[in-house]
Amino acid sequence: MLVLGIETSCDETAAAVVRDDGLVLSDVVKSQVEAHAPYGGIVPEIAARDHVRIVAPVVGRALSDAGLTLADVDAIAATNRPGLVGALLVGLSVAKGLAWGAGKPFVGVDHLVGHLLSVFLRRSPEDAPGPRFPFLGLLVSGGHTALYRCAGPHPADIEELGATRDDAVGEAFDKVAKLLGLGYPGGPIIDELAHQGDAKRAPVVLPVPMGHLDSPEFSFSGIKSAVARHVALAGVPSERQDIANLCAAFQRVVTRTLVKKTVRTALRLGLEEVVVAGGVAANRELRDRMAEACAARGLGLHVPPLRSCTDNAAMIAYAGAVSGERDSLALAPHTRTVLPRVTRKGRGKRTVTL
Ligand code: KG4
Ligand code: ZN
Repeated sequence: MLVLGIETSCDETAAAVVRDDGLVLSDVVKSQVEAHAPYGGIVPEIAARDHVRIVAPVVGRALSDAGLTLADVDAIAATNRPGLVGALLVGLSVAKGLAWGAGKPFVGVDHLVGHLLSVFLRRSPEDAPGPRFPFLGLLVSGGHTALYRCAGPHPADIEELGATRDDAVGEAFDKVAKLLGLGYPGGPIIDELAHQGDAKRAPVVLPVPMGHLDSPEFSFSGIKSAVARHVALAGVPSERQDIANLCAAFQRVVTRTLVKKTVRTALRLGLEEVVVAGGVAANRELRDRMAEACAARGLGLHVPPLRSCTDNAAMIAYAGAVSGERDSLALAPHTRTVLPRVTRKGRGKRTVTL
């Protein structure tokens, strides 16, 4: 079965053709980063307009890269949630129009399910198949940070164990980079600078984000505020090395928290395999530390290759291919995920424990 997937939930316009065994036949991603960079974050109106401008050529390219025409695909999948509604509407409407015109089934996909299943994408027939269910999924992106117990590929098989109570981890990277005047998106820039820095020489001591290791919940607004306070009092460090040291300290404390909570949750729930997905899974320190910690505890670790971690349509096509569902052309876009959530955003004492 071949599925054409379309993804426009945020700031990437993407289309891909994927087989139901995970083999990627084409994967086209057009990033809007340059359009949003001057604002230090995503501007929803710009995102929607840019998707409209570029979506048709991106879909055409995905089909031609795969050596196919629309007539050759068996279904069309598109992200319908969660995301910016104006942005989602573009890919969703294109997918529905194509499905209607070509008389093919249409499937709506939850973007978070796509990320969690991205580990099953195979870039060549020799690539190993993905992990076995059930596994513990850590989803770390610009919009989401949560731990999931994944017992199968359908939304009903995926259980949120705990999420961030405030900022997503990618959002924290982006905001800290913005505070330090480093540009957008901040994750890759901080990743690179942290590599050149020394966390022990950072000009400020940063708090551990939500240090209760027994809780699978996260919080990243405190550490971002600590950087903001430091910048307000002392200004942005003038020496590049001091900025690198600050980035190293920020990245170290964030990645350590993610690794410790993930390993602790896997051990508590008796899950033997861990999957890390989403844009922040591209972070080298997170990948290295998670690999060390999982190896030390006898846990299997699966981290998709970089191009499967950041937003793409191959994961959407795959999720559509294995869903076995067919949606009505009346399917609406939503800002929220279909996955039930246990963590309530905002302040308060309530803490999820396993
Ligand atoms: O999954 P994604 O492409 O889009 C969302 O669904 O949010 O994730 C984008 C996020 C951004 O916040 C970006 O700064 C972060 O992933 N990111 C990274 C790295 N590469 C991308 N964060 C840390 N280190 C990286 N190397
Ligand atoms: Zn994403």
